[in-house]
Amino acid sequence: MFPHHIRYFCGSSLFMHSLIIFASGAGSNAAAIITYFKQNGKAKVSLIVSNKADAGVLDIAKREEIPFLIINKQTLNGTLLIEQMNDYKPSLIVLAGFMWKVPASIVLAFHGKIINIHPALLPGYGGKGMYGHHVHNAVVSAKEKESGITIHYVNEVYDDGNIILQARCPVQAKDTPDELATRIHRLEHFYYPRAIEFLLS
Ligand code: GRF
Repeated sequence: MFPHHIRYFCGSSLFMHSLIIFASGAGSNAAAIITYFKQNGKAKVSLIVSNKADAGVLDIAKREEIPFLIINKQTLNGTLLIEQMNDYKPSLIVLAGFMWKVPASIVLAFHGKIINIHPALLPGYGGKGMYGHHVHNAVVSAKEKESGITIHYVNEVYDDGNIILQARCPVQAKDTPDELATRIHRLEHFYYPRAIEFLLS
């Protein structure tokens, strides 16, 4: 058994958690996570997986020199992707605007290690078809007074896994869906890296 101070040293300074990010879009959440952990050193994004060859998140991967994989439905459902992911020994798989359903094979292979962020307060405004601007349009149309973000574990059902964290923000009567989206993104960029850090601790 290590003396306490050595264990502490190992835990806090030497071991760096590996994160794999799945994203389909601009990747502003991926960028926030990369920046946050570059500063605190507790984790690093070791692989980015995208289903879109022209996704903004791949420009970020290239700029940051992070390896990336472009997948299609077939490779998403195959065993090779799981092997490739295992090569990076991920502590967490982080979905950040990933538009496809994660297959049961991956959920099973990385049980309890996959998390997602949803731009509303689940169970409201979740489920199939509820993503991106569809969510904000629906929230504004329903004249909700409040919206927010939900960070949750991923299981085989859309937006259904156990909730890890929710954060709220007001919806102003004059808000357009785009204005609400901007406010929600700010919440996401603040809380997603911190929720990840909490889960790694
Ligand atoms: C975020 O609003 C996230 O909640 C949702 O998809 C969006 C991704 O945005 N799941 P970005 O690509 O991280 O900018």
